[in-house]
Amino acid sequence: MKLGIFDSGLGGLLIAKSIREHLPDIDIIYFGDTLHLPYGNRSKETIYEYSKRGIEFLFAQDCNLIITACNTVSASALRTLQQEYLPASQYSDRRILGVVVPTLECARDDGYKRLGLIATNYTVHSNVYEEELQKLEPDIQIFQAQTPLLVPLIEHEGMPWVPSVLEHYLRPLLSNDIECLILGCTHYPFLKDEIRRIIGGDIALITQDEIIPQKLKEYLDRHPEMSEKITHQGREEFLVSDITDSYKKTAYKIYGDVIDIEQACFSMKQNHYIRGNTK
Ligand code: DGL
Repeated sequence: MKLGIFDSGLGGLLIAKSIREHLPDIDIIYFGDTLHLPYGNRSKETIYEYSKRGIEFLFAQDCNLIITACNTVSASALRTLQQEYLPASQYSDRRILGVVVPTLECARDDGYKRLGLIATNYTVHSNVYEEELQKLEPDIQIFQAQTPLLVPLIEHEGMPWVPSVLEHYLRPLLSNDIECLILGCTHYPFLKDEIRRIIGGDIALITQDEIIPQKLKEYLDRHPEMSEKITHQGREEFLVSDITDSYKKTAYKIYGDVIDIEQACFSMKQNHYIRGNTK
């Protein structure tokens, strides 16, 4: 069986790449819902429906474990997927993991007391980081800023405008005297250097491409029943729900390598994704 990585688009490729580096021979399949990107400005109901379709597709491709690399999905649909969808589905022995709690655990374990967070509109409005922090360590404070322009700029070759947009988003956050900045979105690690230039050297950066692979390893060690099912032949498959030359270019840039990207189309008739272009 395979490890599935689900994202609303291509940003999750940063996590896929980093998982590949830490677990070089694990079989991976990636699905990015480029047709419906961005999720970050959508309603809870829509995000749930889109992510359920993506998760179901990955399970049908023989995944026993799926990481939702997408913070917006982790913030909105994850709990319902884990607690309601999964037990009632034919995949009740499989598992779905998110990225919010592992990220906060890292900030807590590093001893930070004043955290900054940048994320999509949905993730910030959901307040999920604050709520999970209350459960983990109520003494820690978190200051949040929604940064909705960053994903479209990354996905659509808008890098020249990134520094000024980042300045606009980060300056007010920095006035809260934060000790670390959490990049709470799949795509933002791509902007690490630009962000570092603005925040300076004294504020730590917590980026999910650096922490999720280690957290995954720890999960697999704690759950041999899951890890033993994953095959280790170094295979990787990349699928998206819409494909264009611009998406291909972005994928190569993010993954840092030329990769084969395949399309999966949603069949209204069959109510699930099918590999290949069925249009
Ligand atoms: N993947 C999303 C996240 O991590 C960002 C892109 C989107 O808005 O869909 O929140």
